[in-house]
Amino acid sequence: MGNKTALVTGASDGIGLEFADILAAQGYDLVLVARREDKLNEVSEKLSRTYGINCTVMATDLSEPQAAQTLFQRTRDQHLQVDFLVNNAGLLHNGFFTELSLAEQERMITVNVLALTALSHLYASDMATRKKGHILNLASLAAWMAIPNQNVYAATKAYVLSFSQALADEMKAANSGVVVSALCPGYTATKMMDNPDQGAKLNIAPNMMMSAKDVAESGIKGCLAGQSAIVPGAANKMTAAIIRLFSKTLLTKLVGSFYRKNMG
Ligand SMILES: NC(=O)c1ccc[n+]([C@@H]2O[C@H](COP(=O)([O-])OP(=O)(O)OC[C@H]3O[C@@H](n4cnc5c(N)ncnc54)[C@H](OP(=O)(O)O)[C@@H]3O)[C@@H](O)[C@H]2O)c1
Repeated sequence: MGNKTALVTGASDGIGLEFADILAAQGYDLVLVARREDKLNEVSEKLSRTYGINCTVMATDLSEPQAAQTLFQRTRDQHLQVDFLVNNAGLLHNGFFTELSLAEQERMITVNVLALTALSHLYASDMATRKKGHILNLASLAAWMAIPNQNVYAATKAYVLSFSQALADEMKAANSGVVVSALCPGYTATKMMDNPDQGAKLNIAPNMMMSAKDVAESGIKGCLAGQSAIVPGAANKMTAAIIRLFSKTLLTKLVGSFYRKNMG
């Protein structure tokens, strides 16, 4: 029997790159998805050489219409059966809502929400026919609160958490064999924390960030263990617990003041 196959979106950088490395180390063949084909080719070459697995590069812009459907069809055409889907690709835009471009905000909703939903739908259906599969969706600690100056991003992540937890329950109750998890990292040391294309920079001390590798490890471990919501790291777990003690109104005020103070 051949290796299992994992498809990772946003595999060219950050947390996605670490997901790819961890899954390759576990013997999964990989389908690597992101926009930058040259970066994906480098990752593919490195991981196949290091772990002796097969990598297929599928450069895709998930903000394009029908991108998820096209990607799904490409994996079908190449007889790639996806056993583990990691919906990791995501965009962030920081700043005052009306000063940010509407087109950028819509692109963020398309990638963070619509593409993730479509890929979940297409691959979950396929996995359910085989009675086996894992889907790991990237939410965020931002999913647990409203965040002024990052309002659309936080709302997309609230969607991912709610959608994934409900889907996890549906799949379990139906004995589909499909496990669905939402991973909720806090600040993580990737390009996303310092990307001039993503609006204002949020100044966070490096010691407040987890490494992308630790976040990805926690996500894969939690998903394989069947957890529907995974919060990586002790500090993030504590933050998630504290958040629940506040009313939404008070929490929004506190978070808004923190973001206004720390956004450069
Ligand atoms: N970093 C954090 O603090 C943090 C915290 C909580 C949650 N998260 C979530 O974790 C996930 C990964 O974030 P990260 O920090 O690793 O970000 P990152 O370093 O900026 O990487 C983002 C990845 O997504 C890909 N991507 C972006 N737009 C895309 C598009 N239109 N189509 C296809 N791929 C696209 C990028 O590759 P290309 O540029 O090659 O397309 C890249 O591989 C995101 O969903 C993010 O919201 C991050």
